[in-house]
Amino acid sequence: MSELENNTPSYAIIGFGAIGQALAQAFARKGLGVAVATTRAPESFAAEARAIGPKVIATTLAEAVQADILFLAVRFEAHPAVAQALPTWQGKTIVDVTNAYGIPLEQLGGQPSAQVVARAFTGSSLVKGFNHVGAAILGQDPAVQGGRRVVFLASDKDEAAAQIGALAEQLGFSPVQLGGLSEGGRLVQAHGNSWGHLIFKDLVNFK
Ligand SMILES: NC(=O)c1ccc[n+]([C@@H]2O[C@H](COP(=O)([O-])OP(=O)(O)OC[C@H]3O[C@@H](n4cnc5c(N)ncnc54)[C@H](OP(=O)(O)O)[C@@H]3O)[C@@H](O)[C@H]2O)c1
Repeated sequence: MSELENNTPSYAIIGFGAIGQALAQAFARKGLGVAVATTRAPESFAAEARAIGPKVIATTLAEAVQADILFLAVRFEAHPAVAQALPTWQGKTIVDVTNAYGIPLEQLGGQPSAQVVARAFTGSSLVKGFNHVGAAILGQDPAVQGGRRVVFLASDKDEAAAQIGALAEQLGFSPVQLGGLSEGGRLVQAHGNSWGHLIFKDLVNFK
């Protein structure tokens, strides 16, 4: 599936619920191809995927994880099951869209949830992002009254943060880099029963 030969990375969205479909709409709007996978056989949601766009392709999880850049759009509790799909995620970029709202802090070892996810996807470069607004907003055209909807990105890997920043721009968003996962990234992560201060802040950049 890799398209690295043409210098174009391949994309997949793991999870095709509310947020997975919103992300698929963003890809479809710009005519970018993306694989989508769930726990179910692709035939069961292929028509739904096609209805979003002709290049939104329902596939199996085993096939989807071959992509270079993967959006993790499953419930936080499901991330270990997805991580098991490959022995190593070396060379891949995971965009963690999960919100660990309501997960007890002790269960996370007191760490930001994105660091827990990063550890599960051994070898990957993880970027937290696209998770701060609801699916109904994320699925809308990010071109808003002459500005672009902001997405917040945080990562401990500068190269991956830049890579996803460029993709966010390509999708029509205005990326704002917050720095490392446990620094600025804390602003866009849920902690127990509270939300990071930037979550739900639907901002538009007019520059
Ligand atoms: N909804 C929002 O507005 C929103 C906003 C920001 C962030 N988020 C975060 O985004 C994540 C997804 O939320 P959602 O509302 O989209 O949830 P959802 O509607 O329940 O969808 C979850 C999707 O994950 C799939 N899935 C579960 N386990 C899987 C596995 N092991 N392998 C592959 N796919 C698997 C499900 O597939 P099946 O259908 O086969 O079970 C389903 O398609 C959550 O972490 C949530 O906190 C949600």
